[in-house]
Amino acid sequence: MDKIIIQGGKPLNGIVKISGAKNSALPIMAAGLLAEGTSVLKNIPDLLDIRTLIKLLEGFGAKVQFNQDQITLNAHHITNTEAPYELVKTMRASVVVLGPLLARMGKARVSLPGGCAIGARPIDRHLKAFEAMGAEIKVEAGYVEATAKKLHGATIIFDDITVTGTENVMMAAVLAEGTTIIHNAAREPEVTDLAEYLIKMGAQITGAGTDTITIQGVERLQGAPHSVIPDRIEAGTYMMAFAMTGGTGQVTHVVPEHFASLTAKMREAGIEITESETEVFVKGPQKIKSVDVVTHPYPGFATDFQAQFMAMMAIADGTSTISENIFENRFMHVGEMLRMGADIRIEGKLAVVKGVSHLSGAPVMATDLRASASLILAGLVAEGETEISRVYHLDRGYEVLEKKLSQLGAQIWRV
Ligand code: EPZ
Repeated sequence: MDKIIIQGGKPLNGIVKISGAKNSALPIMAAGLLAEGTSVLKNIPDLLDIRTLIKLLEGFGAKVQFNQDQITLNAHHITNTEAPYELVKTMRASVVVLGPLLARMGKARVSLPGGCAIGARPIDRHLKAFEAMGAEIKVEAGYVEATAKKLHGATIIFDDITVTGTENVMMAAVLAEGTTIIHNAAREPEVTDLAEYLIKMGAQITGAGTDTITIQGVERLQGAPHSVIPDRIEAGTYMMAFAMTGGTGQVTHVVPEHFASLTAKMREAGIEITESETEVFVKGPQKIKSVDVVTHPYPGFATDFQAQFMAMMAIADGTSTISENIFENRFMHVGEMLRMGADIRIEGKLAVVKGVSHLSGAPVMATDLRASASLILAGLVAEGETEISRVYHLDRGYEVLEKKLSQLGAQIWRV
C-alpha cells in the first residue's frame, strides 16, 4: 500500500504541463467501440482508470495499443459484450461502455458499478433513457443486462443533470433509428469533446455544450483521429497549489474557459490570475481571503474542485461556506483535515470553514480521488510532515503527481 510523505511549508514555483482529461478520454475510448475501423486517440493520460478501461475493451475483443499519450484502438471484432465485476468495481466510469455496446452489438451485460465513497451514484437515469430508446433492461445478480434488436430515437428528459448519463445516451443514439433529443443534457466540456469525436466518426449531432442535444442516427461510423481536451480538474488543482503555498506558477496546455468558475472564485479570494490562450499564470498572495462556494453542474463551480478548494479555505483569512449540491457524501476529506488542525463544521450539504493560521502535518487517509488531492494540498502548506495512505485513489486521476510537484519545489515522495 503506497504512501505519500510531504514536508510542508515550501512555496511552489515553476511551470507544469497539464495532461489530457481522464473524464474525456474514458467515454471517448468507449465510443471507439462504435466503429469497425481504427481510431488514433491523442493526449490520453497514463492513469489507472485508463488502463482499467483498456482491459475492459480488450475483453470485448477490441485491439488496443497505448504508447506515450496515444491510443490506437480497433474495434472491428467485438466477440464479447460483458464487463465483469472485478474490473467495473475498481472504476465506476466503466458504465460508459453500456451505450456503445448496446448501439453496436444490441446487447450488453455490465456489472452495476456499486457505490463509491462519495455516494450511491446510481445509474437509474441511464437505464430509463435506454428503455425509452427500445432497450430491454434487466438488473440481476449485480449486473445490468441490456438488449435491443435495434435502438430507436426518443425524446429524453433527464430529471437532473448527469454527465455520463448524457454521454451514454449520445453514444447509444448515434446508431439508433431516427432522432434522439436529450433535454437537460450535461454541458461539461467532456460531453462536447465526446460529441466532436463522434461527429468525426460520421455521427450527426447538434447542440453539444447546451442543455439540448439532438442526434440523428446513422447506419455506421468509421474510426477517426482525435486529441482529447486538457484536464480542467488537474489544471485547477495545480493553480490552487501555487496559490496556497504563496508561490508563482504557470499551468500550460489548458483551455482557461473550462475552469472559468474556479478562476473567478480564486480572484475573489485575492489571488492574482492572468490567462493567455493556452496557459494560466498564478501568483499566491500573502493571505487568501475566505469566499463562499456552491458546487453546480457546468458552467457552475465543479464539484471536482470542492475538496481542493476547501483545503485552500482552511488557511484563508475569515470564514467561508462550501455547499456540495451534486453528491450526497462528498465531505470525506473534512475528518482528515480536522486531524491537521483545520476548523470545519458540517451542516448537511454545507461545510463552514473557519480559516486557521496554519495546518499541522499528520498521518491522514485518502478516501476518493479528489479528496486525496485536497490532502496533498493541505500537506503542502502544513507545518511538519504529512503522511497520506491509500494513494491509489490519487493514481486514478493524477498523472505522476508527486513528480510534477517535486519539480515545482515540493518536498514530496512516495514510499
Ligand atoms: C461525472 O460522474 C464525473 N466522472 C465525476 O468525476 C464528476 O464528479 C461528476 O460527473 C459530476 O460532475 C466522469 O465523468 C467519469 P453524474 P457521473 O451522473 O457522470 C446522481 C472524478 O473525480 N445520479 O453527473 O457519475 C449521482 O448520484 C469523478 O473524476 C443519479 O441519481 O456523475 C450524483 O449525485 C468523480 N442517477 C449526481 O446525479 C443517475 O442515473 C451527478 O451524477 C445518474 C446520476
